[in-house]
Amino acid sequence: MKFSYSQTVADFDAANSVILPLNADLTLTESLQQADKLLAGAISAAISSEDLNGKVKNQHLFLNTGAGPQRILVVGTGASDKLNAKQYRELQVSAWGAIKANAGAKVVNELCLAQSDQLSPQDQVRLTLETLTKSEYRFEQFKTKKEDSDGAECDMQIIAPDSAAQFAQSLATAQAMDICRDLGNLPGNICTPTYLAEQAITMAGKADKVSVEILDEDEMAILGMHCLLSVGNGSVEPSKLIVLNYQGTDKDSAPHVLVGKGITFDTGGISLKPGAAMDEMKYDMCGAASVLATMQAVIDMDLDLNVVAIVASAENMPAGNATKPGDIVTTMSGQTVEILNTDAEGRLVLCDALTYAERFKPASVVDVATLTGACIIALGHHTTAVLSNDDSFAQDLVKAGQEAFDATWQLPIGEEYQEQLQSNFADLANIGGRPAGTITAACFLARFAESFKWAHLDIAGTAWTSGKAKGATGRCVPLLVQHLVNQL
Ligand code: BES
Ligand code: MN
Ligand code: ZN
Repeated sequence: MKFSYSQTVADFDAANSVILPLNADLTLTESLQQADKLLAGAISAAISSEDLNGKVKNQHLFLNTGAGPQRILVVGTGASDKLNAKQYRELQVSAWGAIKANAGAKVVNELCLAQSDQLSPQDQVRLTLETLTKSEYRFEQFKTKKEDSDGAECDMQIIAPDSAAQFAQSLATAQAMDICRDLGNLPGNICTPTYLAEQAITMAGKADKVSVEILDEDEMAILGMHCLLSVGNGSVEPSKLIVLNYQGTDKDSAPHVLVGKGITFDTGGISLKPGAAMDEMKYDMCGAASVLATMQAVIDMDLDLNVVAIVASAENMPAGNATKPGDIVTTMSGQTVEILNTDAEGRLVLCDALTYAERFKPASVVDVATLTGACIIALGHHTTAVLSNDDSFAQDLVKAGQEAFDATWQLPIGEEYQEQLQSNFADLANIGGRPAGTITAACFLARFAESFKWAHLDIAGTAWTSGKAKGATGRCVPLLVQHLVNQL
């Protein structure tokens, strides 16, 4: 499906299908009146007979054999003071589901004109593009038989007032979420650190404003990134530090840096994970995926901003030469770390990437990581955790998440928790015990983020869904894109 945007309906009659909202107060909008005429009063008749009642989940498809669109779908949007984002997403999916098999080449979607006190037209545009893109998403490259692709050829025109800029952002975001989903869903035998590096090189090659640098293990060793390197010790896949530099404004303007955890498979290492659902640890590079995908959105939107993306990528495997519990390594910052659990590897790669970020003299740094199982216990699968060394920056991100319908919640990061990382043999330990696992992981990172404004996003619960609908979600791309747009 392709999306286009128009402020108003220019050519209602040229559409093959139209989707029209009907509020619970049953007012006939201009388009509904026009459609009613084409259908010789069938819409008003359906309202009189209460087949159409304007409530959420009430929708009716009218076939038009005369001039104008062949299909007219009238969708109840409920009362203006009730319609919320969750319902709105469901409405769009069910409306598209009702016509997609026979939608034709041109669909006019007026559902962004739904009356809602909570959702502006811009909000509705955002929700529409992201939700319909998600509902059309398939990851079939390894299936020899593909599912049917009803509606794939269709051009859907989104009608909404004053939403051109929002449309551009939402389209870039929705497409970036697909990139993020694809990278996440790829299996670990294909999506290796080297593969991620190649994707970054390809992305930079297609964009004028982006340069790319891939640091291999030798180069990282020279920089002293022994903590990052320790994670990949047991793997035959070489670790990579991937750096994309987007220059959208003058050189001296301090960049906003995004750092992604790119563990392309996390077995736990010598602190081996249990076997159940271990396949899902291919998703342990979803932080990296969201950062790379956001970079593509930045390119597509041509933002007037400097942005640096850093991906710290390794595969965490057990082996004769793997890091062992108790091993001590020196980080690029000079601080030493006692690795008490090799499964707490995300922080080990991120800490050196954060130190590397210092060289950009960043305006802000946000790292994104599937960092802790504890985050799922704290917030479940709906909300990303935000932790920061600057409360107002944390709140900026929470607000960006609200604007983007990509929910977050701030957790504290007080100094008291630092004690849990105390080590008898090194400057700090890489685990802090069972209490507050998400917070102590962030506390570990904070020790490497002292020279800049920094926030950490733990997407362990939100990056993918398990079970029958197993798949990467594309979160938290909307939040990251909104965060960057808010810096303009
Ligand atoms: N990648 C995992 C975190 C994770 C686990 C995310 C399950 C999503 C689902 C991370 O590397 C990890 O293993 N963390 C450990 C840390 C612990 C050893 C302190 C965890 O959460 O169990
Ligand atoms: Mn782990
Ligand atoms: Zn991990």
